[in-house]
Amino acid sequence: MAQSVLQVNHLNKVYGKRKETQYHALKNISFAMKQGEFVGIMGASGAGKTTLLNVISTLDQASSGSVKIAGTDITNMKQNQLADFRSQQLGFIFQDFNLLENLTVYENIALPLSLQGVAVKNIKPSVLKVAKNLGIEEILPKYPVTISGGQKQRVAAARALVHEPALILADEPTGALDSKNAKSLMETFVHMNENLGTSIMLVTHDPLSASYCQRILFIQDGQLYKEIHRTHKRNEFHQAILDVLSEINKPNEW
Ligand SMILES: Nc1ncnc2c1ncn2[C@@H]1O[C@H](COP(=O)(O)OP(=O)(O)OP(=O)(O)O)[C@@H](O)[C@H]1O
Ligand SMILES: [Mg+2]
Repeated sequence: MAQSVLQVNHLNKVYGKRKETQYHALKNISFAMKQGEFVGIMGASGAGKTTLLNVISTLDQASSGSVKIAGTDITNMKQNQLADFRSQQLGFIFQDFNLLENLTVYENIALPLSLQGVAVKNIKPSVLKVAKNLGIEEILPKYPVTISGGQKQRVAAARALVHEPALILADEPTGALDSKNAKSLMETFVHMNENLGTSIMLVTHDPLSASYCQRILFIQDGQLYKEIHRTHKRNEFHQAILDVLSEINKPNEW
């Protein structure tokens, strides 16, 4: 098996301290992701998708079990180690992109490197390279308010990629987009995955967005319900995803 970028072993997350009302949000979840894989996470509202992403992204702590990223076990790391690890090994893309309005596109993309204390002369080639890859070189001097929604997504993707993280984590990045921009963002992910070898984990409610992934993990009530792999054309995978969703009770909630 190719090297794993992510190994999740018997992961449990219980919200609430003893005596308070407890909620078992993740129940004994185990799976691995190969380096260069593009994996989707689907599940009804409240199934535990964001909780899973937060524990993997080191923003929240597991109750038991372990998470290994690029061979490093993050489960028992100290806070200051975690912050360094996160800034070096992980890239995040959020639903609302979180671009800083008073920084130019160039400065937004450079931010993860500036925060890591990378020397200015070493920042420029990295920013130019990723901007070229995503076709946004022309807008580098502009401010976020002056660019389109689709361009903002690509800037957010560039910022998540610039420090060449081991793993990109995206939570509902197409949630607020119309279908045209959602398609273009998914194509950007496929481009990053195929041409740059980026490993991507994407949480989505949208079966069409999910069909761009290579594999989908379905979560139900905090447990791994099923996984399916894409073997043929994307439209066939889309249908296979819809079939799993209809297998599960209330499909309208997905
Ligand atoms: N901080 C918290 N304290 C207690 N319970 C929580 C907390 N955060 C989430 N939960 C509960 O854990 C469960 C999983 O929540 P989570 O946010 O992971 O769901 P999700 O699959 O991302 O849902 P959505 O699709 O609506 O974003 C839910 O029942 C939620 O109410
Ligand atoms: Mg969520």
